[in-house]
Formats: sequence, C-alpha cells, structure tokens
Amino acid sequence: MKRDGGDKQMQSVWKLPAPAKWEKRFGRHPTQKPEILLDRILRASSQPADLVLDPFCGSGTTGVVAARLGRRFVGFELETAFVKIAIARFKDELRSQLSLSFACASEKWSVIFAPKAKRQSPSWAQLVREALAQLGGEASLSQIYERVAAHERTRTVPTWTCTIRRVVREGRGVVPLGNGRYKLAAA
Ligand SMILES: C[S@@+](CC[C@H](N)C(=O)[O-])C[C@H]1O[C@@H](n2cnc3c(N)ncnc32)[C@H](O)[C@@H]1O
Repeated sequence: MKRDGGDKQMQSVWKLPAPAKWEKRFGRHPTQKPEILLDRILRASSQPADLVLDPFCGSGTTGVVAARLGRRFVGFELETAFVKIAIARFKDELRSQLSLSFACASEKWSVIFAPKAKRQSPSWAQLVREALAQLGGEASLSQIYERVAAHERTRTVPTWTCTIRRVVREGRGVVPLGNGRYKLAAA
C-alpha cells in the first residue's frame, strides 16, 4: 500500500479514474466500479488463494480482479443481465491469462441461478377455512373476521372484510347455517 502511494502512507481518500471504456466492453452496469479500485482493495486485504466474496457483484469487477490476482471468488447477483456481463468478463479474463502465461487452467464455470422465491400467500378462502378450523369448525362471521385479522395479508388489503364476506356468501369451503353462522364444508 505504501509502495502504491509513492512510498508514502496511503491516504484515506483515493483518487482513481472512472471505469475505462474497455472495462464496459461486455455491457454496462450503472454503478460499475473501476478495476483499479478493486485491485487496490484486494491486494490490501487478501492473499493469493484466499476466497473473496462479493454478495452484490453486479458486472463482476471484484471477481475479474480476484481472478487476475490469483484469489478465488464467489459472487451473488440478483439481475440475470448483470450475471451475463460478469460471466463474459470472467471468461475473457481467464482467456487472456491463459494466452499470457500458457498455464494449465480449466475453464469451468458454475453459475447457480437462484430466482427470487415467490412468497405464496394463502388464498382468502384458505384463511376462512383455517379460521373456522381454529374455531372448532363452526362460527359467526365476526368470529371469522377476528381470526383472519391476525393474518398479515389483511394489512396490505384494506378491503379484506368485503372479500371474506364474498368468500362465505359464495360458499367457498364453508356452509351457511343461518343466523350469520357458518361451518366448515366437508373436504
Ligand atoms: C453497486 S452494484 C455492484 C456493482 C459492481 N461492484 C460492479 O462493479 O459492477 C450492486 C448490485 O447488487 C445487486 N443486488 C441488489 N440486491 C441484491 C441481493 N439481494 N442479492 C444479490 N444481488 C443484489 C444489484 O442488482 C446490483 O447489480
């Protein structure tokens, strides 16, 4: 670090150029970091063969520089478009290392796609059935409301009471007993 700073103690404010055009040759990332910045960070904080983790890796700048410096790398990225840019950059980095060093390296890439899990919300009819089951299989509409109100889904749907009323009127999983009371329909 001292050598990098012209044999002076490294300052805490670093002035470095923005990413060069060629660093964006496989596509653009809106907040892409300059390779020179990651080069300095990785050399300052890791040794060859160390494992570097970038949990928000974008276009893969950290991984490309890690590979260049002989570090191992694991990156996470949410957007498929950025993962594609990162892979193109990693492949290119490895190709240029091979042609420079004639080293024997294997070009194996593992990309694990883990799409965002969709949170499955229970349906309103399901919530009504659950409420009735908790109430012993039979209850009034207001008792059903009370139970369903405990579910977080009601916080995002202000009109949920109308929906519950419709569910019981349509007899979705419930049987009307008269006098505003309902029982669980047989499965
Ligand atoms: C500041 S950018 C990283 C830029 C990167 N250093 C580069 O040089 O290209 C942050 C990235 O984190 C991604 N991201 C945001 N939330 C995420 C999450 N929960 N899991 C994985 N990636 C995420 C964004 O899609 C974005 O590409």
